[in-house]
Parts: sequence; C-alpha cells; structure tokens
Amino acid sequence: MLTERLLLRPYDPDDAALLKEAVDTSLDHLRRFMDWAWTAPEPVGVVRKRLRAFRDAFRHGDDWIYGIFDPDGSAIVGGAGLHRRVGPEALEIGYWIRASRVRQGLATEAAAALTRLAFERCGVVRAEIHVDPANTGSLAVAERLGYLREATLRKRLPPIKPGGPRRDEVVFSLLDDEYPGSPAVRFAVNGLD
Ligand SMILES: CC(C)(COP(=O)(O)OP(=O)(O)OC[C@H]1O[C@@H](n2cnc3c(N)ncnc32)[C@H](O)[C@@H]1OP(=O)(O)O)[C@@H](O)C(=O)NCCC(=O)NCCS
Repeated sequence: MLTERLLLRPYDPDDAALLKEAVDTSLDHLRRFMDWAWTAPEPVGVVRKRLRAFRDAFRHGDDWIYGIFDPDGSAIVGGAGLHRRVGPEALEIGYWIRASRVRQGLATEAAAALTRLAFERCGVVRAEIHVDPANTGSLAVAERLGYLREATLRKRLPPIKPGGPRRDEVVFSLLDDEYPGSPAVRFAVNGLD
C-alpha cells in the first residue's frame, strides 16, 4: 500500500536488520507506551524469528502486521497493525513511529490507510484505536481521523514496565456509517491491500 509519503507492507524476515535499527534507535521513545520495547534491544536472529511469525499470522489471516517504510523501502519509519482482538466484524488499529520521524503526521497517514483498508477491503462495521490516556500524540491521531472517544476502561492496559501499575485505556471507534464522512477517507492510498 502506498500513501503520499509511506509504503506499508507485511514484514519479510529479511527486514530484521532494518527493524532492529529503527527500534534500537527509538528505545526511550517507544518505552513510554509500548510494553514490547522493554525487551529490546534483541539479537537480529530473534527479530527475524518474530518477523517469520508475523508473516505466518498475516498469511493465515490471524493478525495483519505491517512495516511502515519510506516509499523506496530503504528505511523503516515505524510499524502498524490490524488486529482481530476486538470482536466480530471489527478490527483494532495500532501504530508506532520511530523517534527520528515523529510529529510529521506520519502516524495519522498510516492509521488512515489502515482505516481505509478495514472498511473498504475487510468490510468491518467498526474500527477501534486503543490509547493510554497519557499518550497525547496517539489521542490526537485518533481524533484527527474522526474516531469518536467512546470510553475509558479502567486498568485494561498491561503495565508499561514489568512490575509497574496497570494503565487505563481510552477506546476510540469509527463506525461503517460514519466512515464515508470521516477525515480518514480523504487520505490517498494506492494498492489498498
Ligand atoms: C504516538 C505516535 C504514534 C504519534 O506519531 P506521530 O507520527 O508523531 O503522529 P502525527 O505526527 O501523525 O501526530 C498527530 C498529532 O499528534 C501531535 N503529537 C504527536 N506527538 C505528540 C506528542 N508527543 N505530544 C503531543 N502531541 C503530539 C501532533 O502534533 C499532531 O497533532 P496536530 O498536527 O493536530 O497538532 C508516536 O509518537 C509513537 O510512535 N509513540 C510511541 C508508540 C505509541 O505510543 N504508539 C501508539 C500506541 S496507541
């Protein structure tokens, strides 16, 4: 999938070195909100194994995880996913952007592409974005795309750091009848798959 400034595609195990570089140079940034970043840095072989698992899950339709690349594929800008864990006819969208590329509207652009994919190709009734209430940048992404802040669920997110407190979770949703009028629909995407 190509957006104005990004290429989104499923990871290949050969992306391991690129992904490791993007994550390892973003550790402090990612560790604020992504629990998985606390297990990094990892050896490239471990990253490669995980990417193999992502590829298999993608092929089996269990979980659709995308790498976010520069359009020529030369660097990883971040990652994103469409996850089936929010019930029938619904998908949850997740995303992260490497530290050196934040505040350029790239998470918004990537999440818009996945929102379009969810409604136009997967035919969902509801797309959701789940955010830690302290994550100002991510709250803004959901709001900018026209998602409705639906609820704050208490202590639903795991501790950010092993041994820390559980965190509340803000649930944003966008429904199929709201999608055509949402800002998300106006983001250009080529090759919506
Ligand atoms: C949250 C995150 C995805 C935002 O990515 P991004 O590419 O910077 O987001 P965008 O540039 O599309 O920003 C959208 C809006 O948020 C604002 N914003 C971005 N980062 C912000 C921050 N740290 N604090 C306050 N506002 C922020 C931007 O200014 C923009 O608002 P505006 O243009 O309407 O003023 C990125 O910081 C990140 O990867 N964080 C770590 C992982 C994470 O939290 N993932 C999301 C989990 S729900």
